Amino acid sequence: MRQIHIRDTDLGKSARPRLLAQAPEQGRAIQPHARVHVTILGSRQQHWPDEATCAAAAAALAGHRAVRNAFVELHGPLGAGKTTFARHLLRALGVRGHVKSPTYALLETYQVSDGSGRLTVSHFDFYRFDDPQEWEDAGFREVFASPGLKLVEWPEKAAQFLPPPDLRIAIEPRDDASRDVRMDAETPLGAELLA
Ligand SMILES: Nc1ncnc2c1ncn2[C@@H]1O[C@H](COP(=O)(O)OP(=O)(O)OP(=O)(O)O)[C@@H](O)[C@H]1O
Ligand SMILES: [Mg+2]
Repeated sequence: MRQIHIRDTDLGKSARPRLLAQAPEQGRAIQPHARVHVTILGSRQQHWPDEATCAAAAAALAGHRAVRNAFVELHGPLGAGKTTFARHLLRALGVRGHVKSPTYALLETYQVSDGSGRLTVSHFDFYRFDDPQEWEDAGFREVFASPGLKLVEWPEKAAQFLPPPDLRIAIEPRDDASRDVRMDAETPLGAELLA
């Protein structure tokens, strides 16, 4: 078990200062998450030589019942494979038809019915998120307070608002186009996903 600092290490872009600067204008006091110690309850390191391996990892995650109420953060640079992993996960959960990248809409929502009942999947991409008011107006707060699977690309961009994730997946492309992947469980539910 190890402890790390989150929320401050990999915020390479300018979203946080911009969000905080906008908040007073809108009469809304936004409290950024304090630096918190996170206890890692389990970790897995993987290597994905190709997309088929990524698909297999997504299918393995989909096989855990706990995924139905998990909040999974997807980290990694542009083109790392976050949406690709999310697509394979959605397919493995039974989503049919085109799975759009939520780059412009910020959120794409899916309903799946299977033997275990009805499942809501909320797939976010916060890369273009720069309006704190939208967190309330678009109902994102309710999404995170409701049951269902939440998959979040670019969580760094909305770090002020997001609750702690159950599972943090970091995808790092290598020079040979394969991916190094690290999965950290930050809650007991996340640890179930790695079991
Ligand atoms: N091992 C691999 N795992 C995942 N994707 C791979 C792999 N090898 C190649 N790819 C390809 O890399 C691309 C990843 O693009 P994707 O849109 O998933 O990235 P992203 O991390 O979501 O980027 P963005 O930050 O722009 O949202 C896809 O074209 C996918 O087919
Ligand atoms: Mg993407």
